[in-house]
Order: sequence, then structure tokens, then C-alpha cells
Amino acid sequence: MIKIIALGGSNSKNSINKKLAVYAANQIANAEVTVVDLNELDLPMFGMDEEIANGIPDNVHKLNRLIAATDGLVISLAEHNGCYSVAFKNAYDWLSRIDGKVWQNKPMLLMGTSPGVRGAQTVLGIALAGFPRLGGNIAADFSFPSFDDNFSDQDGIVNSELKEVFDSKVELFVNSL
Ligand SMILES: Cc1cc2nc3c(=O)[nH]c(=O)nc-3n(C[C@H](O)[C@H](O)[C@H](O)COP(=O)(O)O)c2cc1C
Repeated sequence: MIKIIALGGSNSKNSINKKLAVYAANQIANAEVTVVDLNELDLPMFGMDEEIANGIPDNVHKLNRLIAATDGLVISLAEHNGCYSVAFKNAYDWLSRIDGKVWQNKPMLLMGTSPGVRGAQTVLGIALAGFPRLGGNIAADFSFPSFDDNFSDQDGIVNSELKEVFDSKVELFVNSL
């Protein structure tokens, strides 16, 4: 079995990014998928004073170990005002305090989606530029626009052109594992 982490970069209960990440991870044959829900990490807001007073939370160490033990990462980023969601940035900053190698060179399928036509392209650009400096090994990236028009809970990606591009990105990712 190939171990895959699926992570939506959002703390929305009905996160479209979590849906896309889980959907993508489930396309991979022989994959054991672990879904990371940022809500369940229940992290305090990162700050140097918080770290000095209480240390790095156990759940951050647990997530770091989970990443160390995985074969690949499927991440879909929510875009808030052109940046990472606060929940994602918080987890990311905490993780970076362990050893600065957040993604531990694990092959990554990096995606982003939004209800709008730009499909979280701005935050994707930020991650594409920044993740490699923190151990990011991005095998493929995919921006999925107009989520509500192009995805159904029952059938997944229903736009055939986007599905073709998505499939090619998943294939690139699988080949990198
Ligand atoms: C504070 C806030 C800022 C947002 N800014 C953007 C944005 O810059 N670009 C965008 O495409 N969508 C933006 N959106 C819409 C999000 O893409 C939308 O809420 C989406 O569902 C977030 O993904 P999620 O469901 O995985 O949380 C914003 C939403 C909120 C609440």
C-alpha cells in the first residue's frame, strides 16, 4: 500500500478543498489515505511568546511524524484574500518550528480550488514559490476553478476538460512516488 496524506488547507466543516484533496487521494490505486483535518489539530495561534511559554503542541509533533511516515502528500489550499487561510498558515508556521523541513521532501500534489473562476491561483503561486524552501517537493500542481459548477459529491469532477488535466496531474504525482 502507498501511504498518502490528504489535507485541505481550510478549517471549514464543508471545505471544498478538503473534498478535492480527498477525491484526488482516492484516485490513487493501492493507496492508504489519511485525511488530516486542521480542526482536529486544535492548535493555539502561533506566536513566539506562545511557543516560549508552552512549547510546540503535541499535535504538531504528531503531524510531523505522520508526514515523515507518508509516501506522498495531496494538499488543496483555500485562498483567503489572496493568501493561505489562517488555519493552514497557523499549522504551517507551527510545523516550521520543528526543523524547517515542513514537507520533508515527500512528493506532493499541490492543488487549490475556490468557487470563483481563478481557482485559488494566487495562493497556489505563493505555495509554489515558498514550499520548496521548506522541504516541498511538488510533483504536480492543479488549480480547479468554479468548484460548485465543476464538482459533484457523487461524481467528482464533472467537467471533462478539467478532468483530463486533473488525471494527468494525478498521474505525474503517482509516477513521482
Ligand atoms: C475571508 C475570505 C476571503 C476570501 N478570499 C478569497 C480570495 O482571495 N480568492 C478566492 O478565490 N476566494 C476567496 N474566498 C472564497 C473562498 O475561496 C471560499 O470561501 C472557499 O470555499 C474556501 O475554501 P474552503 O471551502 O476549502 O474553505 C474568500 C473567503 C473568505 C471567507
